[in-house]
Amino acid sequence: MQQSPEHTSAPSPEKKREVVISVRNLEVGFGSKTIMKGLNLDIYKGEILGFVGGSGTGKSVLTRTILGLVQKRAGTIEAFGYDIDKIPETQHRLLERRWGVLFQQGALFSSLTVKQNVQMPMREYLKMSDRLLDEIAMMKIEMAGLNPDAADKFPSDLSGGMIKRAALARALALDPEIVFLDEPTSGLDPIGAADFDDLIATLQKTLGLTVFMVTHDLDSLYSVCDRIAALGNGHILAEGPIETMLASDDPWIRAYFHGKRARAVAGEPMRAGEEEQGKAMQTGTER
Ligand SMILES: Nc1ncnc2c1ncn2[C@@H]1O[C@H](COP(=O)(O)OP(=O)(O)OP(=O)(O)O)[C@@H](O)[C@H]1O
Ligand SMILES: [Mg+2]
Repeated sequence: MQQSPEHTSAPSPEKKREVVISVRNLEVGFGSKTIMKGLNLDIYKGEILGFVGGSGTGKSVLTRTILGLVQKRAGTIEAFGYDIDKIPETQHRLLERRWGVLFQQGALFSSLTVKQNVQMPMREYLKMSDRLLDEIAMMKIEMAGLNPDAADKFPSDLSGGMIKRAALARALALDPEIVFLDEPTSGLDPIGAADFDDLIATLQKTLGLTVFMVTHDLDSLYSVCDRIAALGNGHILAEGPIETMLASDDPWIRAYFHGKRARAVAGEPMRAGEEEQGKAMQTGTER
């Protein structure tokens, strides 16, 4: 079994933490456009890592690259200590069973019921009886905070919040060790978003899950994330607990975490001149 290498560029926690995903010197681009270059990131076991960055900076592309859905140009990605480029296809399939994904777009198959959606990954990766498939799917549906009645509904019959929960149930289908959530609370009202955050925090604690969460939601960053990493200019601008973000000199991070909405979340008074700047930065700009 391949050993996880030493990571010299990791932050320096007091005791060495187990790294679940390790990205080094990653370069990804499309045609003549480079999206990221020299990107380094570690995701530690059991943490909720919030991933922020302006719109179009490459948060979803990074997620998809880690999952092997986007080709990288350079760099290495290790998952659970394995270099994903150096393992045979059969072993990659085994790795895929250890993670779950809630995609930003097209979370569910519209022609399948919630239960059938949740069963999809199980059918693909596991061999089990229909009765067991049903039982486990119902368990995941309840785990994601959905009423059992939702199981036989089609996505078009669900609210936005229920769709997110159904997608979470599917992400949990294979009892993953890590889940990748791409903007799980976008489009939800603040109460729905807070409930979803609570659910993620509960799952992390009870299942020992590692969570990689792309989000624009400042409330989530403050309330559930153990660490935050900010993406900009193709690399990680800063990473660490919320205090690290608040102390960062990077202009984008400053505007994001000290803008009007950030101040409202943190309960701080607004400073003159920061309101408009914060508004523009939180919207993000496509580059
Ligand atoms: N398959 C693709 N082919 C070409 N360009 C792509 C492809 N996928 C993504 N891109 C481009 O890569 C850039 C990063 O996109 P990405 O979806 O990762 O942004 P994001 O940070 O997730 O933004 P948002 O916060 O709006 O979701 C964008 O300019 C996007 O147009
Ligand atoms: Mg995205």
